[in-house]
Formats: sequence, structure tokens, C-alpha cells
Amino acid sequence: MANRQKNKILHRMLHRASYWLLGIPLRLKIMGMVLGIIFLFAVTSLYLIYGTLLRNMHDLLEKEGHSIAMELAHQAPDYLLINDLYGLTENLKNTVRNRPDLRYVVISDRAGQVVAHTFGGGFPRELLQFYRLHSEPTTEMSLRLIPTTEGMVWETGTPIMQGDEGRVRVGVRENAFRQQINQFLHNFVWNSLWVVLVGLLLSVYLTWLITRPINSLLTATRAVNEGDYRITLEKSTSDEVGALTRAFNDMVKQLALAEENRREKEKIRRDFLQKVIAGQEGERKRIARELHDQTGQTLASIMVELKMLENSAKEEEIKRRIVSLKQAITTEMSALHNLAVTLRPSVLDDMGLAPALEVFVNDTRRRHQLPVQLTMVGFGQQRPDSATETCVYRIVQEAVLNAIRHARANEIKVLLERQQNQIRGVVEDDGQGFNPEIITSTDRLGLYGMMERAQLLNGTLHIDSEPGQGTMVVFALPLMPGQTAIQPTEQTND
Ligand SMILES: Nc1ncnc2c1ncn2[C@@H]1O[C@H](COP(=O)(O)OP(=O)(O)OP(=O)(O)O)[C@@H](O)[C@H]1O
Ligand SMILES: [Mg+2]
Repeated sequence: MANRQKNKILHRMLHRASYWLLGIPLRLKIMGMVLGIIFLFAVTSLYLIYGTLLRNMHDLLEKEGHSIAMELAHQAPDYLLINDLYGLTENLKNTVRNRPDLRYVVISDRAGQVVAHTFGGGFPRELLQFYRLHSEPTTEMSLRLIPTTEGMVWETGTPIMQGDEGRVRVGVRENAFRQQINQFLHNFVWNSLWVVLVGLLLSVYLTWLITRPINSLLTATRAVNEGDYRITLEKSTSDEVGALTRAFNDMVKQLALAEENRREKEKIRRDFLQKVIAGQEGERKRIARELHDQTGQTLASIMVELKMLENSAKEEEIKRRIVSLKQAITTEMSALHNLAVTLRPSVLDDMGLAPALEVFVNDTRRRHQLPVQLTMVGFGQQRPDSATETCVYRIVQEAVLNAIRHARANEIKVLLERQQNQIRGVVEDDGQGFNPEIITSTDRLGLYGMMERAQLLNGTLHIDSEPGQGTMVVFALPLMPGQTAIQPTEQTND
């Protein structure tokens, strides 16, 4: 269990470390890699060379001590047999004088008593103490390392005549060798630092070489992302980055082509839609006029005829029937009028958006017995262009009729504001609301039509609603240049 926990923590830490490493900029990654390799190479070389040098130094010291000790062990019996300790000491001193690494030579008798040595001012007490504490076999060769105030001394011990005549001890200093090694290490570290510096400069250059095309790719990708497809990158290298650049250029060409096709299709769609809407409006206008001028006039003349018939009729039964016919025709005329107004109110063409909306709102309020509040700000005498007027009228009409048909609202508010360069509008109801995301254009046309109309005039429209929260249709339509707003005047119609 504890192991699993540990593994989990380790895994998480590794994951974080790799995430952090991947997040480092490419430039730093390459420089870090070059420096890391140089550093690793320098440290490994230093470690190996230092180890080899130390081993060699030890071998050398051992061999030197050994050969001197053997030589002196060979010469010593000549002096010892005639008890010429003075001659022996002189011989030892000569040996020490001729070899700078040699620190001392000590000769002791069988009992371990020092009989001759090369120390000028008496035998050092510390060395004596050391010999007492660390005894060694009398008949065998020995090698040991003795720490002294002058540094480490490699002491080789050799028996004289198998130990019968005592023992020779030769102390060789390692200081000189150490100094050489340290000098070498010092030079090595300095050289490594130079290599690091050159490596750093090289890696900066290398990084620049690698990241330059990548940075251009990045800048170009951002430009393409913002819709600029004119960009073509220079093919600077023939490696993978060069291949990527070529692929990028091809991709941008394809994207430019696709974008052109899309724009063309969009233009065709918009032109077509504009024509359909214009045709629809024209047709509605024609039918509305027809209903008013033709059918309405015919019904009106029938009414006059019926009035005359009513006046001339003698029988009560006929009179009653004529009255009933007149009533039916009056109802039909009113329905016809409403239909004509809904199709295309002539007031929209004749007097403009504000009066047309007032007529529409009053009519709706009367017909549906519902408070509809209309507030218009900034709509003075100068009228927007007819396409914008029709678009605003149709959006408000659809939004209000939707609120009546679907929302079960208690109140509907319409707010329109004409600003310097746009018309902004809000149609709000306090009804049951709905989820606008689940409405598709296939089965319902009202919301889709509102959006299409707004987009065709380069405007925006969005529906803010959710079940139980009422609905808000918010739109903005740009005004054609030159249609400047006049001093805002507020008209509220409840
Ligand atoms: N104000 C609203 N309150 C609640 N639901 C609404 C509101 N407006 C629209 N809806 C919902 O969105 C649906 C789609 O509306 P849309 O106007 O596109 O179609 P429709 O009114 O049903 O038919 P039509 O195509 O004749 O307009 C409606 O059927 C209704 O469920
Ligand atoms: Mg609708």
C-alpha cells in the first residue's frame, strides 16, 4: 500500500517535471542541452582523469619507495656488521639529499629501536608515536600512508636480511605529485570553462538558426489565424523545418482557396436570400394592396348596395337578413384589414418605422389584451434606409408575436435606440422562456429568419433565454454612412 502510494507520488512528480521541461522555450532547451552535454563531458572526464592520475601517483610513489628501501636494505648490513652507525647515517642522508621526493629514511634494529635516521633536529615524536601505535610485521614488506604536518607520506618498510638485522623505512612525500595533479586540474577546469563559453556562443547561434524559421512559422500561423492568407514563407532550409515551411505554404494556399470559395458561396447565398426577402416583401406589399384596393373596395361597394337594399326592403325578414349580411361583411372587412396590415403595413412605406411600430403595438395590445410597451429613442425625422426599416420592423414583429404565441407573458417591452452609427433594439418578455440552443432552423423559421435578416445587413442578433426566465431578443444593425442620427427624442407608447 505504502509502495503504491510512493509510486503514485513518484509518477506525479515525474509527470510534473516533464510537463515543466516541455514548457521551457525551445531556445532555452537547446542551450541547456548543449551546456548540459559539455558539463557532463567535462565532469566525467575530470573524474576519470583525476582517478587515473591518483592511481598512477600511488604506483609511482610505491615503486620509488620500494626501490630505495630495497637498495638501502641491501647496503645497510655492511655498516651494521661493523657497527658504523655514523657511516650508515651519512649514507642515508646522501640518499635523501639526492632525491627531492624522499622525506626520510629510518633504520631500526631487530627490537624495533631506531639506530639511524635522516631527521636533522632529532627523531620526530609524532612519528615515534605512530610507530608505537601501528606496529608492522618485521619480516615482510609493507606500505602505509602516514598523515604528517607536511602532507601525506608514503612509507615503505623492508626487512634487512629477512629481518635479522632490523628494518628500513623510507618515507616519500606525495606533495610534489599532488601539486602537479592540482595544476593539471586547474588547467583542465579553465580549459573546460573556455569550452563552455565557446559552446554557449555556438548554442546561441544554433538556437537562432533553429528558432528563426520556427518563429516565422509562428508569426505566420497567427496571421493566418486572423484571416490573412496572403502570407508566403521563405524556404530557408532543406531540413525538417524547411519541409514544414513548404507544407505550411501549401496549406495556406489551400486555405486561401477554400476561403475564397466560402466567400463566393456566402455571397451567392446572401444575394439569393436578399432577393428572396425582397421578393417576399414585394409580394406581401402587392397582396396587401390588392386586398385593400381590390377586395376591400369590392366589399365596401357591396356594403353600399346592401345599405340601399335595406332601405328599400319592405319585409322585416329581408331587412333582418340584410343586417346580418352587413355584419358578416363588416367582420370580414376588419379581418381583411388586419391581414393586409400584418402582411405589409402601408404606414411603414409611407411614414416610416416609428409610426408603423406604434400602429403594430397598438393593434397587438388591442387584439391580445396584453400590455406591450414601446420605447423609441433617437428616431427623429430622418428615416433609416428602407431595408433597415423593414428589417427592424420584421424582427420586432416576430419577437412580439413569438412572446404572445409561446411565452404566456404578462408583459412585453420593446426598446429601440438609434445611435450615431447603429440601431440597437431589445424585445423582452416575462414569459416561460426556452432554450434557444435546441431550436434548429429546419422546423422553425421565425428565429432563424430574424438572425438571417440581421446578418444580411451586417448586424448582430442574439437570444437570451432559459426556461422559466423570460426571453430577451437583442439586436444591433449598422446604419449606412450618411444616415446620421438626429438629436435623440424619446417616445414612449404604453
Ligand atoms: N418568447 C418566447 N418565449 C418562449 N418560447 C419561445 C419564444 N420565442 C420562441 N420560442 C420557442 O422557440 C420556437 C421557435 O420559434 P420560431 O419563431 O422560430 O418558430 P415558431 O414561432 O414556432 O414558428 P414560425 O416559423 O411561424 O415563427 C417556438 O416554437 C417556441 O417554442
Ligand atoms: Mg415565430
